Amino acid sequence: KTIYLKDYSAPDYFIEKTELEFDLFEADTLVRSKLTIARNTAKPAAPLVLNGQNVELVSVAINGEVLSASDYTVDDVSLTISNLPDTFIFECVTKIQPQDNTSLEGLYKSRTMFCTQCEAEGFRKITYYLDRPDVMSVFTTKVIADKQKFPVLLSNGNEVGAGELDGGRHWVEWNDPFKKPAYLFALVAGDLINVDSHFTTQSGREILLRIFIEPKDKNKCDYAMQALKNAMRWDEDVYGREYDLDIFMIVAVDDFNMGAMENKGLNIFNTSCVLASPETTTDAGYQRVEGVVAHEYFHNWSGNRVTCRDWFQLSLKEGFTVFRDEEFSADMGSPTVKRVEDVSMLRSMQFAEDAGPMAHPVQPSSFIEISNFYTLTVYEKGAEVVRMIRTLIGAEQFRKGSDLYFERHDGQAVTIEDFVAAMADASGRDFSLFMNWYKQAGTPKLSAKGDYNAANKTFSLTLSQSCPPTPESQTKQPFHIPVAVALLGKEGALKLSLQGDVQASISADQQEAVLELTSSSQTFVFENVDEPPVPSLLRGFSAPVKLAYNYSREELGRIITLETDGFCRWDASQQYALLVIADVMAALVNEPAPAVDESLIEAYRTVLTNDALDPAMIALMLSLPSEDYIGDQQAIVDVDTIHHARNRVVRKIALSLHAEFLACYNKIHQELSAAPYSPDATSIAKRSLKNKALAYLVETGKPEAIELCKAQFEQSDNMTDTMAALTALVHSPKAAIADLKAACLAQAYGKWKEESLAVNQWFAVQATSPVPGALAVVESLMQHEAFDIRNPNKLRAVIGGFAMRNSINFHDRSGSGYAFLADQIIKLDSQNPQVASRLLTPLTRWKKYDEKRQQLMRDALQRILDKPGLSPDVYEVVTKSMVK
Ligand code: ARG
Ligand code: ZN
Repeated sequence: KTIYLKDYSAPDYFIEKTELEFDLFEADTLVRSKLTIARNTAKPAAPLVLNGQNVELVSVAINGEVLSASDYTVDDVSLTISNLPDTFIFECVTKIQPQDNTSLEGLYKSRTMFCTQCEAEGFRKITYYLDRPDVMSVFTTKVIADKQKFPVLLSNGNEVGAGELDGGRHWVEWNDPFKKPAYLFALVAGDLINVDSHFTTQSGREILLRIFIEPKDKNKCDYAMQALKNAMRWDEDVYGREYDLDIFMIVAVDDFNMGAMENKGLNIFNTSCVLASPETTTDAGYQRVEGVVAHEYFHNWSGNRVTCRDWFQLSLKEGFTVFRDEEFSADMGSPTVKRVEDVSMLRSMQFAEDAGPMAHPVQPSSFIEISNFYTLTVYEKGAEVVRMIRTLIGAEQFRKGSDLYFERHDGQAVTIEDFVAAMADASGRDFSLFMNWYKQAGTPKLSAKGDYNAANKTFSLTLSQSCPPTPESQTKQPFHIPVAVALLGKEGALKLSLQGDVQASISADQQEAVLELTSSSQTFVFENVDEPPVPSLLRGFSAPVKLAYNYSREELGRIITLETDGFCRWDASQQYALLVIADVMAALVNEPAPAVDESLIEAYRTVLTNDALDPAMIALMLSLPSEDYIGDQQAIVDVDTIHHARNRVVRKIALSLHAEFLACYNKIHQELSAAPYSPDATSIAKRSLKNKALAYLVETGKPEAIELCKAQFEQSDNMTDTMAALTALVHSPKAAIADLKAACLAQAYGKWKEESLAVNQWFAVQATSPVPGALAVVESLMQHEAFDIRNPNKLRAVIGGFAMRNSINFHDRSGSGYAFLADQIIKLDSQNPQVASRLLTPLTRWKKYDEKRQQLMRDALQRILDKPGLSPDVYEVVTKSMVK
């Protein structure tokens, strides 16, 4: 059933108080709920319809009177009671089986502990309730369980009581003084230990910080704890937001559908996003922990104190919070590197979503299953939209807008329009056209043309926009696009001055202009331009668009050498490489080993030996565009040609710059060996360049390079270097090292057997290998003793690794990859619909492939659709993607 934003209507009832009691047993859990309900008198009288799913109703009472079966109706998804007074007490008892709940939504068991995941609509799997975010209530929760098995009993807010019961049971009661929607409810019961610390807020309040883990992970939460403190301080400094309860808790669980969840005062985390140790976590893993800890913490204001009116507003909290965590991570490390990583991900993944059958606006207008809309569009593109608001009004006005938003809406459930209105009111700017970023799907194409007039010393820049059709609309209104521009002369950026009265602003140093494109085409004229410039466009990636400008290689070369904006500099190197790869792709039709443009090699040599550049930037600039990004530039993705052409260029770079890479490797290796592993920004940057050099060295296939790699694998004291070496070996096409690969994999497994998170990476490195035969490997990994089909991290590592990060093998012409994925989806659909629906994504992109593959992919989709009793999650994605 499709739900529409336009059908939104305020709730008929409010729940002022929610009192819950959980009796946890091995076979069943009893949930007693007592709700203080008041009718919404602004609306006509209506029956009370509570949501409830997969729960057994044991009893129900109104104002203390037990109802008989004829007093209410129950179906698969609801409980309805008519003829109620305006205020009353509703009580019910439900029985559920958390230990059998494999969907990991609602109350479930992860290994030995009970835990919950209620966003978006999981609370209804616990008890009958008005499970919608605009119903906000004060919660009191009593948890009762066996004391020996479950010594730790947690819920939101503050502990208000505890005691012993007969039969070895005990109870703890929690109260959360802040009104919240049911999706922010959490409960945990387990045999856990805690690591504690403290934080003093800006107003001098002392907060207890407590991370709960299994005893074996005791030494793995220091990094998350420090990240939490940094995030708390940052939110005070940058947004003026202080924490509000006396305790902040994080619990790490192994089985979790997503990264983490911002439940009020009791965040629940996938272990992969909170635990970190040098021996099991890569640098990227450390950065993910830092980012996710901050993200969930920031939700305390952007999400919890001010929440969403309905799920169409999801980006209100997610887009804003991702923007906040991106800026936090930028401040903790290198802002440019962070920006390049984020944009790179957006362009290869979110753009593909925008071009696919599930494309939707940042504020969707309809859905069948909301879980399908926790997407790159709502999260990452949503963050880009918030970023554009800041670009348009400036940091100072943006802060005023955010203060106004929190002040106006504290304790409320609001809309994206409310957020933008606060920004508009604080800045005095008009955001009506800008709203199209929220309402229209699709990635706009921004075309730019430059024209230098030597006589007038003017440079005219004509900007035009268009946007391809997407499922929700064939035609598009123009977007309000901020285009940050610099003009590069022979010596560097020129001073800018614009002719006439145009919508634009120029920076204090006069080197950057933000041009505002608000119609389908506009020309901006720069004056006093003494020489023909190269325009550097979309600085800092000022808008999530596809830029088309006909740069020559010389012009790109000037941007690479002279631009001070790190993003544009990196992007120019990507565009340069794209041109070179495109040549090779075209030539591959006729010759097996076409030449590679030497000028790229020279450009790379200059970058690699530039000591003034941040090593992490060098590593990024020496990374060729991903196969996904290259494919995105094509109407029909030519999987094999992309793979072979790109590899050819990689090998050419590796061989031509062999000496430079070796020198670079040795120098950094030496520097880093002087100190033990540390995940600080400088060391991370050095390791990224060193391991980029190592990867190129292994590409040469030279025995010395293989030896070097093997030595790093064996001697490394940290997961980053170990995984870099293992990946280079396992992904190498060199048949002669098959035994070495097997030996290293066996050795790694022996070392990591007891470390589930390390084993996940061991699975992923094999599932993502471009070497032929990956499917057989994946099938055998699924039989491995460490594989667990119930655990989403294992599924993502093995099935996700193969289907989403191994194009060349997944898209094998035989269709074996597609058939395999369909089999897995059919199996997983009944077990865990959310994970099934997500893993299905690659099959939905069939339109981007040749006719033969299209047919095979559609056959796979049809087979999934034919499964009786398909979940709404998978049903929605399959049916929408089958539309021709
Ligand atoms: N709000 C969580 C976060 O952004 C994600 C929750 C995902 N839940 C879901 N059902 N997909 O960190
Ligand atoms: Zn979030």
